[in-house]
Amino acid sequence: MQKQKNVFIQTFGCQMNKLDSELSLGLVRETGYGIATEIGDADIILYNTCSVRAHAEEKVYSHIGALKARKLREPGLIIGVLGCMAQKDGKQVFKRSPHVNLVIGTRMLHKLPDILRSAEECEEHILAVDKDQFFSIPRFVNGHDNGFQNYVSIMRGCDNYCTYCIVPYVRGSEVSRKIDDIYSEVYQLADHGCREVTLLGQNVNSYGKGLDDGSNLARLLQKIGKIDKLERIRFVTSHPKDVTKELLEEMKNNPKICRYLHLPAQSGSDKILQKMNRKYTSKHYKDLVANARKIMPGISISSDFIVGFPGENDADFNETVELLNDVRFFNCFVFKYSPRKGTVASRLKDDIEEKIKKDRNQILLNLQKKISLEENTKLIGSNFDVLVERLNTKTFAPKSTDKPEESFQGNFMGRTKYNHIVIFSGEDSIIGKTVSVKIDNATEFTLYGKQLN
Ligand code: SAH
Ligand code: SF4
Ligand code: F3S
Repeated sequence: MQKQKNVFIQTFGCQMNKLDSELSLGLVRETGYGIATEIGDADIILYNTCSVRAHAEEKVYSHIGALKARKLREPGLIIGVLGCMAQKDGKQVFKRSPHVNLVIGTRMLHKLPDILRSAEECEEHILAVDKDQFFSIPRFVNGHDNGFQNYVSIMRGCDNYCTYCIVPYVRGSEVSRKIDDIYSEVYQLADHGCREVTLLGQNVNSYGKGLDDGSNLARLLQKIGKIDKLERIRFVTSHPKDVTKELLEEMKNNPKICRYLHLPAQSGSDKILQKMNRKYTSKHYKDLVANARKIMPGISISSDFIVGFPGENDADFNETVELLNDVRFFNCFVFKYSPRKGTVASRLKDDIEEKIKKDRNQILLNLQKKISLEENTKLIGSNFDVLVERLNTKTFAPKSTDKPEESFQGNFMGRTKYNHIVIFSGEDSIIGKTVSVKIDNATEFTLYGKQLN
């Protein structure tokens, strides 16, 4: 009998890619492959890729390049490129890296086992980037460790066409899953030990569009909230133009929904927002945040920003700085603009020098660090319910304080409903459980404390 082949997947990009990798591994396992935990033990190496910025793509190509020598030593090794960059670059991947065996786009992942079998039988390059395929990777909720935290996709694709963004081109147009299918997936997961589910979509607020049964995100959350064994529900990503009052009210009334909104603003300048095709103004954004905070005091709001979008002058950038100061985000992810071929913005001149992009990036990150530290420090002395995620093995002593190192230690790591990361000392075997923690220290990224009960 032939030896069972082991598959290893390395994932780049967003949570949707992480989920796709997980589901793909489940699928290949179900069809007779083994799972390698180390790349060195793998017979089949797959990269699930991201195209959102040039840097994300370069990283993948450099990993693939590093496998050239191994492929010469082990000609039977199968190397595959999956996901967004596979969809975007197609057969170009083979041109650049001829030792790659297969390229599978975002909507062909459900065919992975068949494609792997073909690759084992023939030496030829296999390209599977069909765009018209209906796409869904089945989930096998069974004896394998499904964990107590799971991602569940509620929709795929994006119709927003923000002018800088490649996602609608590589992921296709929006398709929402049926509310009953999502419900039964979450129900099964909860039945197998899942305590926290994160609902995923590029723009979860437009969930339900095209279903013609009146479904929307608020109603989906209400339905899932009724699953007894489930403790927490998160969802990402929200688009500021589509957050409704109904959604905010549902969040308020449903104690299982985490007090957290990832609400990418991208810029504080109306001129830039318009050029980005974001369809809101900075005033609309601020009003929305104020409203969310009025309905749910203390809610954490995080954001993404792009610096150095074409035409972003000092005055535009200062408006972004102002927005950070005004809103006082929980957290911000800041990206330097990276032109993506095929997008509308790529036709504009990428006119902001790299040095300016870097400086603006640093200014926003430093400002956000200061804000986060100030906000986190206010929480010292409070108690939080923390869902314990894992053991903590790191010790961290921030340079900026004169507190002893023990103040920043703890054997567990978990999260509050507000998405704070908490490192704390607690009793044995609490992973996967919710415990009460008293906060006694803080840095910009982390709260520290001790278990109370
Ligand atoms: N659908 C999500 C995720 C999109 S990608 C959303 O709308 O938020 C995640 C982030 O990458 C975006 O929010 C944006 O800030 C950033 N991004 C997207 N395209 C980019 C580009 N061409 N250059 C730099 N950053 C980009
Ligand atoms: Fe990209 Fe905009 Fe869609 Fe997000 S909403 S995936 S930034 S096009
Ligand atoms: Fe990247 Fe694709 Fe996600 S481009 S951000 S992995 S949808």
